[in-house]
Amino acid sequence: MPGTPAVPIRGNRFCIVGGASLVGSATAGELLDHGAAEVVLFDNFAFGSDAAIAHLKDHPRLRLIRGDVMRIADLLRATEGMAGVLQLAAYMTLSMDRDPWGGLDVNIRGVQNALEACRANKVGKVVFASSNATYGYGPGVAGELVEDTPFHSAGAPPAAILYGASKIIGEQLCRDAFRKWGQDYVVLRYSTVYGERQHYRAANALYIIETLEKVRRGEPPEVFGDGSETKHFVYVGDLARANRMAFESAATDVAVNTSGPAPTTTLELVQLVTELAGGGLAPRFVGNEPGKVRLTSGGAFRIAHEAAFQAIGWKPEVDMREGLRRLIAWRDSNEGKAA
Ligand SMILES: NC(=O)c1ccc[n+]([C@@H]2O[C@H](COP(=O)([O-])OP(=O)(O)OC[C@H]3O[C@@H](n4cnc5c(N)ncnc54)[C@H](O)[C@@H]3O)[C@@H](O)[C@H]2O)c1
Repeated sequence: MPGTPAVPIRGNRFCIVGGASLVGSATAGELLDHGAAEVVLFDNFAFGSDAAIAHLKDHPRLRLIRGDVMRIADLLRATEGMAGVLQLAAYMTLSMDRDPWGGLDVNIRGVQNALEACRANKVGKVVFASSNATYGYGPGVAGELVEDTPFHSAGAPPAAILYGASKIIGEQLCRDAFRKWGQDYVVLRYSTVYGERQHYRAANALYIIETLEKVRRGEPPEVFGDGSETKHFVYVGDLARANRMAFESAATDVAVNTSGPAPTTTLELVQLVTELAGGGLAPRFVGNEPGKVRLTSGGAFRIAHEAAFQAIGWKPEVDMREGLRRLIAWRDSNEGKAA
């Protein structure tokens, strides 16, 4: 649609910055399936892996560029001729805990570099992967989290605050680019992602993967505290669809939540993973291990995704039972064992 911020997928070229990733690999498949002329995966493989994109590597319309978001020349090369850019490259909380400055560089300067490259190459639309970490963590986070819920930081681990704050800054850099040079963009605030090609880098998704591994080893899975802590996940295939729809929609200059159908508690989650893994021992209730980064909130919460429907027509389709079934099937397949 010329003259509107909508970028059709069919026939257009897209670059996924940080593409050798959980979300990148799923989104590349989604864009290719919807007729993208080319999808470029740009990554320095700091965290991403060949295994994450092995299922795509022989696709005739997929191209891999090894490059670093800290080097604008790399980004200028990768974004040339692109109709849309999905900006994923980031450090999440656990990586931020290990290397705060590395994370702040990538999550802030890296985003600005990507936006500058899009400006130079006249890229139609940027979709930026933000996070529900923009609402913060700790005792202030409870109830319905909507897009204007403020950031809570009191009582949260420093790395989680640095991560959430870096995503807030990334969002504002997008807004700034819209105001200064009319760069169309959509910010999607992902909740915790899970699904095929699950990695160990997201603190909340570790509940799933650690439970699965313990059940498989015949050990009791662990539940933190009394298990009533809320988590709100989103299935990676639903997010890939959200990324595609953000490009296709006429929405611009907007930030919306993309969360799964409903929140869960850690106890429900551990019980469901145990059941889907074929059954196992009853869970063991544990306290915090010193030095381990835990993301806690003040009480039950739900990350509202209704604004995403208004803005880009998206709502989640895959519930936790089905999404976990797919994750476990992938882990049990040869592909999952290689990852
Ligand atoms: N996974 C989640 O639970 C979750 C939740 C909310 C938001 N997000 C956001 O979604 C995005 C994707 O998440 P994911 O789980 O797929 O992440 P991931 O860790 O799998 O992917 C991030 C990718 O960025 C790449 N990268 C890091 N530094 C780079 C650099 N300097 N240059 C080029 N590439 C670099 C990594 O190698 C990796 O492939 C991230 O921005 C993340 O903050 C993720």
